[in-house]
Amino acid sequence: MRVLGIESSCDETGVALYDTDKGLLAHALFSQIDMHAEYGGVVPELASRDHIRKTLPLIEEVLEQAELTRDDIDAVAYTSGPGLAGALLVGAAIGRSIAWALDKPALPINHMEGHLLSPLLEDRAPEFPFVSLLVSGGHTLLVDVKAVGEYELLGESIDDAVGEAFDKTAKLLGMDYPGGPYLAAKAEQGKPDRYEFPRPMTNRPGLDFSFSGLKTFAMNTWLNSEQHEQDKADISLAFQTAVVDTLTIKCKRALKQTGHKRLVVAGGVSANKALREKLDAMPGVEVFYPRQQFCSDNGAMIAFAGAIRKQAMQLQDKPTFSVRPRWPLDELTPP
Ligand code: KG4
Ligand code: ZN
Repeated sequence: MRVLGIESSCDETGVALYDTDKGLLAHALFSQIDMHAEYGGVVPELASRDHIRKTLPLIEEVLEQAELTRDDIDAVAYTSGPGLAGALLVGAAIGRSIAWALDKPALPINHMEGHLLSPLLEDRAPEFPFVSLLVSGGHTLLVDVKAVGEYELLGESIDDAVGEAFDKTAKLLGMDYPGGPYLAAKAEQGKPDRYEFPRPMTNRPGLDFSFSGLKTFAMNTWLNSEQHEQDKADISLAFQTAVVDTLTIKCKRALKQTGHKRLVVAGGVSANKALREKLDAMPGVEVFYPRQQFCSDNGAMIAFAGAIRKQAMQLQDKPTFSVRPRWPLDELTPP
């Protein structure tokens, strides 16, 4: 079975073809980052309009890469939430229209489930159960993944998502959007131990996170410094170290609480090198990541989640559809 996957929840148009026998056949991505960078963040209306321009050409591109035609598609999976409503509607409308025209099932997929299952696309894939740390620009979640579709939320951020905290801190240090990777690069020139940032919510029980205070701490430290390049690097390092330590402490706690020995890390921030080094060093735990290009938003994870969910889903005969800008993972059911 071949599933076409369409991702359009935020500022990346991702399209892919996944074959349940042969694996991933093709994928293509267009990132809108340059367009939004001018405004210092994602402009929802511009995002929607660009998804309209890019989705169909990207579908043609993956079909060409895989040397297939539309008739070879057995199902169409699309992100139906969480995300920006207008952006989601573009992928949903195109995905459902194609499915309807081909008389094939349309599969609405939860974006976070896509991230969560993305390491299963790799040759070295984790077995169930595992703990998943999802760290992106919009979410910071710790999830107990018992099986496909059986997700228990263990903890989440009560304010800024970790990627958002990276981006906001980078912005106040004068870096471009999205600043996470720039801040991480700057941190490599930082002198360790010059500044000590707090590890929020680590000395009380529980698995929730809070990152907005770190951003304020970074701002005050920056305003009280000479504001030289070295200060910027030292603050970047202190901020990143605090985030990485906080995430690691909570991951250890989640693994202990669940008794699981496997940890999966996905979402844009899982590309962070310091985070990977620290998590990889945890004794007695196997850590799994998607390949670098699938850490951030992509169509492959949506096609894959669609393929897994396909078996149990009925053929859609309704001409209507909806999207869910907010859609908690623990409301999903097993396929
Ligand atoms: O998953 P993603 O591509 O998009 C969603 O938010 O769904 O995540 C993007 C986030 C941005 O906040 C970006 O700054 C952050 O991931 N990010 C990083 C790194 N690479 C991307 N943050 C820290 N270090 C990185 N190397
Ligand atoms: Zn994402």
